[in-house]
Amino acid sequence: MSTPTIRDAVADDLPAVAAIYTHYTLRTTTTFNTEVRTPREWHERFSAHRRHPGHHFLVAERDRAVVGYVETQAFRPKPAYRRSVELSIYLAPDTTGGGVGGALMEDLLGRLEAAEEVHRVYAIIALPNELSVAFHERWGFVHRGTLSEAGYKFGRYLDVAYYERPV
Ligand SMILES: CC(C)(COP(=O)(O)OP(=O)(O)OC[C@H]1O[C@@H](n2cnc3c(N)ncnc32)[C@H](O)[C@@H]1OP(=O)(O)O)[C@@H](O)C(=O)NCCC(=O)NCCS
Repeated sequence: MSTPTIRDAVADDLPAVAAIYTHYTLRTTTTFNTEVRTPREWHERFSAHRRHPGHHFLVAERDRAVVGYVETQAFRPKPAYRRSVELSIYLAPDTTGGGVGGALMEDLLGRLEAAEEVHRVYAIIALPNELSVAFHERWGFVHRGTLSEAGYKFGRYLDVAYYERPV
């Protein structure tokens, strides 16, 4: 497998990004979304990332195909949360476990560390997700708590774990 290239997303990447996320939306409990995001919603998310130095939308490209992405956005909307961001990272299902997530995370953390206004990054992980937990811990995220049965999808309640990393 060739090494992925990590770069800022462009609007033309959005259909490939949407295809990845749609898989997790419709077939897994990894995301609590149950409805497929529309192209307009993806464009709005993409445009919003340009308004804050800690908000990024990066893709991993291999053999000219987008095989994963990571985005950071506001952790919560209220202004005092401005220096905290939440990340979402998703790879194409046949790409997991091969280091592409690590390449995305390394690039993202470098950018967050360069942005003086970012102090904390959060990952909110729907359980169970052994790979995501191992991945985030490997990148320095610390478990700060788990909400029990906060989600309900596919007919069952789901716990959600909060992971935090200083920037
Ligand atoms: C979570 C995800 C982004 C991680 O990216 P990845 O490319 O699969 O992870 P990597 O190959 O970089 O592995 C990172 C670490 O996880 C651990 N790991 C790898 N494979 C593992 C496995 N099968 N089980 C447990 N831990 C594993 C290793 O500690 C590895 O560290 P290393 O760099 O020292 O080897 C990716 O698997 C993914 O998109 N999963 C599905 C969607 C998802 O769960 N997203 C996160 C939502 S919170």
